[in-house]
Amino acid sequence: MDELIHIPRSGILNREILLSHTDTLLETVPDYRELLMEYSGAMRTIRTKLEILDSEFSLKCRHNPIISIQTRLKSQSSIMAKMARLGIPVNRKSIEENLNDIAGLRVVCPYLDDIYMIADALIQQEDIELIQKKDYIDTPKPNGYRSLHLIVRVPVGLSDGRKRVKAEIQIRTIAMDFWGSLEHQIKYKKDSGDTGNIVERLKACADIIAFTDKEMQAIRMEMDKQAK
Ligand code: GTP
Ligand code: MG
Repeated sequence: MDELIHIPRSGILNREILLSHTDTLLETVPDYRELLMEYSGAMRTIRTKLEILDSEFSLKCRHNPIISIQTRLKSQSSIMAKMARLGIPVNRKSIEENLNDIAGLRVVCPYLDDIYMIADALIQQEDIELIQKKDYIDTPKPNGYRSLHLIVRVPVGLSDGRKRVKAEIQIRTIAMDFWGSLEHQIKYKKDSGDTGNIVERLKACADIIAFTDKEMQAIRMEMDKQAK
């Protein structure tokens, strides 16, 4: 039988206890399943909005500005690990206030312009509340990471009314997604030391990709002009 965990009134648990129970502890939070259902609702609501925008813009721009939309609910163990890292109490209120990325969407676009066109069209919708916008395209991370990150709140219709639920949306080009996916894998394999100048080489790849993204954008604009 599982060992019982005593949760203090503060809800703040010792980091070691948190990390050694990442698979079970969250079940002790009342209404945890209801919470996940709400985040799942937010994800689906945003996905539908994005799909509608894609259909609309495909008529106007002669190409689909969205190639794919991936959604994911943060796993229990990742939620627990993040709470341990932030040192925040294990309860529903604290999860809702402090974690912005339980519901996550990753949107891949063909061209740079598409990213901002989709983001702007989504943000200006009256039921979307923008909480935070991080433009890692304009200002890439030191390692070369690029993407546009939005934290939004969206209403989810429930039987007893509408609840505003947070979600993280990452919008990027195919090229940025290619780099981000591989860099993420490599980061996990590399444990210590950087004898092969891996960090610098990955940054160089990111810069080449950024140049290519700009050039592909310019080529498409040129083609559009010629077609007019
Ligand atoms: P987290 O606590 O990881 O959510 O970071 P944060 O709250 O500081 O937000 P940030 O916008 O920096 O990153 C959120 C998410 O973007 C991460 O969970 C990753 O999915 C992605 N991301 C951010 N930086 C990198 C990076 O350097 N490489 C890759 N591959 N992905 C990144
Ligand atoms: Mg995250």
